[in-house]
Amino acid sequence: MAGSTSLVLQPVTIGDLQLSNRIVMAPMTRSRADDAGVIPEYAADYYGQRAQAGLIVTEATNISAQGRGYPRTPGIWSDEQVTAWRRVTTAVHQRGGKIFLQLWHTGRMSHPDMHGGALPVAPSAIRPLGQIRVGDGMKDFVTPRALETDEIPRIVEDYRRAADKAKRAGFDGVEVHSANNYLLEQFVRDSTNRRGDQYGGTLSNRLRFPLDVVRAVIDVWGAKRVGIRISPVTTTPGETPLDSHTENTFASYIDELSKLGLLYVHGIEGITQQSRDTPASLNIAALRRRFAGAYIANNQYTLELAEKALAAGDADLFSFGRPFIANPDFVERLRVGAPLADAPKQYWYGGDATGYSDWPPMVALRGNQRSEPLVNQQ
Ligand SMILES: Cc1cc2nc3c(=O)[nH]c(=O)nc-3n(C[C@H](O)[C@H](O)[C@H](O)COP(=O)(O)O)c2cc1C
Repeated sequence: MAGSTSLVLQPVTIGDLQLSNRIVMAPMTRSRADDAGVIPEYAADYYGQRAQAGLIVTEATNISAQGRGYPRTPGIWSDEQVTAWRRVTTAVHQRGGKIFLQLWHTGRMSHPDMHGGALPVAPSAIRPLGQIRVGDGMKDFVTPRALETDEIPRIVEDYRRAADKAKRAGFDGVEVHSANNYLLEQFVRDSTNRRGDQYGGTLSNRLRFPLDVVRAVIDVWGAKRVGIRISPVTTTPGETPLDSHTENTFASYIDELSKLGLLYVHGIEGITQQSRDTPASLNIAALRRRFAGAYIANNQYTLELAEKALAAGDADLFSFGRPFIANPDFVERLRVGAPLADAPKQYWYGGDATGYSDWPPMVALRGNQRSEPLVNQQ
């Protein structure tokens, strides 16, 4: 049923948000902010060009300087950052789109190079496997510093402040990043949380900080403008298993999120970008059914797969990441069945407007299926 008749491409209302279709642009870090975490002016072009998506979720955005993990990622703690984000939300709204800001704290997935030599913070002093991108290449992860108990409520307040600033920047809502083993998931999982205080040990203690964060963000926005991203299957950054009782852990987490009345859960099915495989012990459809709000499904979706999942009642919205990089008019291309351009990896992270906000829409291609950014044609 590809093309204009597809139900995936028809308007839908979730909560009080009217979306022009069920396609969501997935959050994608593109590493083009300056050292002060301010998004560049051409980010407004990039996001505005992609406003055909029913909903855009921005690249992960640091709630505080402490939350940073990677060079040139944007923030939402300074007024300068808010002003720059306002240009983005204005551009998307002018084109009839909706946009949520993804709120991020990387926790242990960071490096002292990002913190003037100080250690990144985490629930427990457990080093992630592997390496991390820093300013001048890749470096080994370090053992993070375990947060003191009284530091944790202060991070909750950082989330509250960031949520408030997102409101002032004109976003339609926020998505709490609780996936991919960043700080919130580090608290949730028992391989990364070995705390002995009220934030660790039992499952309800491990969920305390993430749920405090969600409640603080709801205080600012109301539950119907807050979503959350989770990745039950992920193994990032290499530990297996991340959790000794994944299904039970996420069942409780989702039950609590459902009680809070959140707008949506955004699930990464399988391992992000790598595979859709899910261990037999984990029933994603059953987990999804525990949640009363909308469910955004992600990871290697195609229009056909989305149509099947929608028809089966398995998901409400579908987020696409990589296809949006080189196809600003991705939704229109799905509608007419046009070929998709592929973005070389060299453009994914870092650089400037090239390979970012200069990908042409179909109309500019005039029948020539060019897959290089415009600037390379000049
Ligand atoms: C360049 C790039 C950057 C990404 N950055 C983020 C991010 O900031 N936050 C996040 O939750 N996921 C991030 N992801 C994961 C995507 O949101 C998505 O889960 C993944 O690309 C799988 O979807 P796809 O198969 O449609 O691309 C990123 C993926 C890519 C390719």
